[in-house]
Amino acid sequence: MPRSKVAGIGMYVPKNVVNNNDLLKYMDTSDEWIQERTGIRERRYAHRTEETTTTMGVEASKIAIERAGITAQDIDFIIFATLSPDYYFPGCGVLLQRAMKMKEIGALDVRNQCSGFVYALSVADQFIKTGMYKNILVVGSEKHSFGLDFSTRGRNVSVIFGDGAGAVVLQPTEQSRDGKEQGILSTHLHSDGESAEILAMYNPGTHANHWLEQPLADFEEAEIGEMFFSHAMIDKAQVFPNMDGPAVFKKAIVKFPEVIMEALDTHGLQTSDLKLLIPHQANLRISQFVQQKLKLRDDQVHNNIQKFGNTTAASVPIALCEAWEEGKIKDGDLVCLAAFGSGFTWASAILRW
Ligand code: ACO
Repeated sequence: MPRSKVAGIGMYVPKNVVNNNDLLKYMDTSDEWIQERTGIRERRYAHRTEETTTTMGVEASKIAIERAGITAQDIDFIIFATLSPDYYFPGCGVLLQRAMKMKEIGALDVRNQCSGFVYALSVADQFIKTGMYKNILVVGSEKHSFGLDFSTRGRNVSVIFGDGAGAVVLQPTEQSRDGKEQGILSTHLHSDGESAEILAMYNPGTHANHWLEQPLADFEEAEIGEMFFSHAMIDKAQVFPNMDGPAVFKKAIVKFPEVIMEALDTHGLQTSDLKLLIPHQANLRISQFVQQKLKLRDDQVHNNIQKFGNTTAASVPIALCEAWEEGKIKDGDLVCLAAFGSGFTWASAILRW
């Protein structure tokens, strides 16, 4: 059975750099608070009207496709991971297919937030292994700046997130190097919906408060059509992401190391075998905690949240692309991708480049 290899990789971040001090215009915060708690110095915000989640995904995809030595016409399946789609429906996959004038291939959107790209990669890997597709485009892209609460009320969330996109082209390979198989060795996916509301955006949604301890709006009084999205929701600022930061932190620092070790243990590998760990860029403190727990050296972990903030589904492919462009990943190197986020969902992929 073939394995999947990353044949091409690309990233795109908007030109507009927003540093921590720039946020003082909108909210009561400080560069010191943000850097100390998250490690973030600056992030990129997309152009309000000219850039969307899809257009950023297209830019990253163009680079990945070119580096794979193929054209957009050769792509035979698209998997697009995002939590900030251009439309509530249809998904960004079809918008990318249209924008890149691709054939009438299948397009699938993945809504797994921070672990979305690793989940998408895992789905693509299965299609490649079974021989169903030969050139799958996997994209992670987010335009967070469009949907955050930039008042002081929303500062615990809004300072963390940034915009950008990353993409890879997956192709089949049977290659080995020094007797070691190349490509994706395995992927590992998990979820625990018990705390789904801890890191969530409730609206627009059909929940009608079923899962929420604190009712958001008075649904008993709601008119037909109001339940999905109402004026009350907007008035009460119930249209923004909600996060219990400390609860997320506690779970993340357990599940990140667990899913990385699961990937290594599956192949009888040690942390010392890892050339590079690419953790989802949730928060520098989480990455540092994971690094310490696994006793990894600084050169074994790639972080770039300082420059780009947390770009959710885009963070793993952006970090992977940057690390590759910086020459940190060479043929034959063992690389682990790992992510944890809303759901909760968490995942890892272990690959030999
Ligand atoms: N600027 C200044 N003060 C702030 C800000 C801000 N941007 N945000 C919150 N505060 C204040 C709060 O109002 C609070 O003030 P108070 O003590 O007077 O009430 C104080 O700082 C502490 O608030 P907490 O929410 O308890 O802040 P905490 O120390 O937990 O830090 C953080 C928040 C950074 C989010 C932290 O909980 C954390 O690291 N959580 C991990 C979750 C995470 O990183 N999520 C990223 C996205 S999810 C993902 O990718 C998996």
